[in-house]
Amino acid sequence: MTDKKCARIGIVTISDRASAGRYEDLSGPAIAKTMENYLSSPWEAVTRLIPDEQPLIEQTLVELCDEVGCCLVLTTGGTGPTLRDITPEATMAVCEKVLDGFGEQMRNVSLRYVPTAILSRQMAGIRGSSLIINLPGKPKAIRECLDAVFPAVPYCIDLIEGPYIETDESVIKAFRPGQK
Ligand code: MTE
Repeated sequence: MTDKKCARIGIVTISDRASAGRYEDLSGPAIAKTMENYLSSPWEAVTRLIPDEQPLIEQTLVELCDEVGCCLVLTTGGTGPTLRDITPEATMAVCEKVLDGFGEQMRNVSLRYVPTAILSRQMAGIRGSSLIINLPGKPKAIRECLDAVFPAVPYCIDLIEGPYIETDESVIKAFRPGQK
């Protein structure tokens, strides 16, 4: 039996090298650790480690949203300009709505850290009752980006009729209009 209130969060590492075992996946675990830090309501991680192949990325996102029922899917990697970087295209292909503000805000904040943040094409969108957000590949960049956008995530999940997500306010404060 699954607890209805337990938020499932998909964590998808998209990397040819990590998925082939050529290096350790540090990015997926960095996302999980950040969620552990942020969230005070019950949640569970559903993780995947896959290569930069568009059909496989799309299939994985669809599975996590439609079958596993993740209210939030966080991807890492594949957002840059190289030939193999295809994560935003795969995300766009499975989403019904694009939320441009996420990519804009993540790039905006990341540019304070590195000028090459402009190379990231990360985006976010809605598929059914799931919010999908692309994060860059580097663990440090992941935290920088999540800190910049996560305050809006719980309310977005309310709006798409997902579970009520609460955060540890000493770490990050969720903003819900009309709430103190
Ligand atoms: N964003 C932050 N906050 N910090 C970074 O170091 N690196 C950039 C960018 N965004 C970076 C960042 C670089 S160098 C690239 S190529 C893109 O993210 C894409 O990264 P990805 O291909 O690993 O997704």
